[in-house]
Amino acid sequence: METTQKPERKPVIFSGIQPTGIMTLGNYLGALKQWAMLQDEYDSYYCIVDMHAITIRQDPAAFRKNILSGYALMLACGIDPQRSTTFIQSHVKTHAELAWILNCYTQFGELSRMTQFKDKSQKHPDNINVGLFAYPSLMAADILLYQADLVPVGVDQKQHLELTRDIATRFNSVYGNTFTLPDGYYPKAGAKIMSLQDPTKKMSKSDENVNAFVAILDDQDTIIRKFKRAVTDSEAQVVYREGKDGINNLMSIYSVVTGKTYEEIEKEFDGKGYGDFKLAVGEAVAEHLRPIRENYARYMNDKAYLEECYHKGAEKALKVSQRTLDKVHKKIGFIR
Ligand code: TYM
Repeated sequence: METTQKPERKPVIFSGIQPTGIMTLGNYLGALKQWAMLQDEYDSYYCIVDMHAITIRQDPAAFRKNILSGYALMLACGIDPQRSTTFIQSHVKTHAELAWILNCYTQFGELSRMTQFKDKSQKHPDNINVGLFAYPSLMAADILLYQADLVPVGVDQKQHLELTRDIATRFNSVYGNTFTLPDGYYPKAGAKIMSLQDPTKKMSKSDENVNAFVAILDDQDTIIRKFKRAVTDSEAQVVYREGKDGINNLMSIYSVVTGKTYEEIEKEFDGKGYGDFKLAVGEAVAEHLRPIRENYARYMNDKAYLEECYHKGAEKALKVSQRTLDKVHKKIGFIR
């Protein structure tokens, strides 16, 4: 007798990035590069999270530009709108709707413990708004709406992802299986790219010292200059070892962009000084990012295409996420 098998569901990916102006090498190696690599294996949803970005005050004109350029940069990094669902968070109303519901299943104490909330509250003491506090439950909504199996992010998002699992587990235990529990995907190298000026700190776009980060769209000379100035140590030995934070960071960057192992890198620079090594890293990164800069310029010259892509993406995202939201409404007891 013939059995009719259900077509297997492709596992789902969701990830997002804030459109706050500058996107860095950290964003690229920790997230965007992984998104591009994983997009065929998974049913992928990639999102510009403009609603998360307003937890910090934004200038409307600059914000509008940053959302569009963030979207263009996502495509320029190799995320293909024909193979992945790419959209802008505020275009898909289910995100805000589920976020409100999840707020009611998230504890005050849990949100108070989030290190990103504590850091950002310290940085913006005059604007510790409720949205900043509830940021992680909006992120949980983003992920759970698509029943994501995997969330490729840098390690700085690990705590938020764990909270997402806790919220989903709590909801499932009250109402029965509703949400898929997502796993984080952290690249082996590149999950935490450090500042070039203080290699004990994460590379961050909001660093006041522009030499601390490399922007994806920095030109070749700027990239090389920033690597030449990178803070290292006084040993002059290119080896990966505990305590050599600056060199370890440069080695992991060089390893990801060239595909070389740490052993191969150590051999390549055996007997050579840090000057040679820093120059090689700068050149390799500049070369690696060159096609992205070129693609970005092309996309920004075709706004009509970008618009068509993000509208189509939002339509598909709404359709898929509405199914989860309907299920949630029913489970809670909302009437239709
Ligand atoms: P955001 O916009 O700060 O950063 C986007 C992605 O880049 C990664 N990243 C890094 N990776 C390695 N080294 C670094 N120095 C570095 N800096 C940033 C981040 O880990 C992230 O993966 N809350 C998120 C956005 C978000 C989201 C989501 C992510 C909203 N909803 C749902 C995943 C799923 C954020 O602020 O990322």
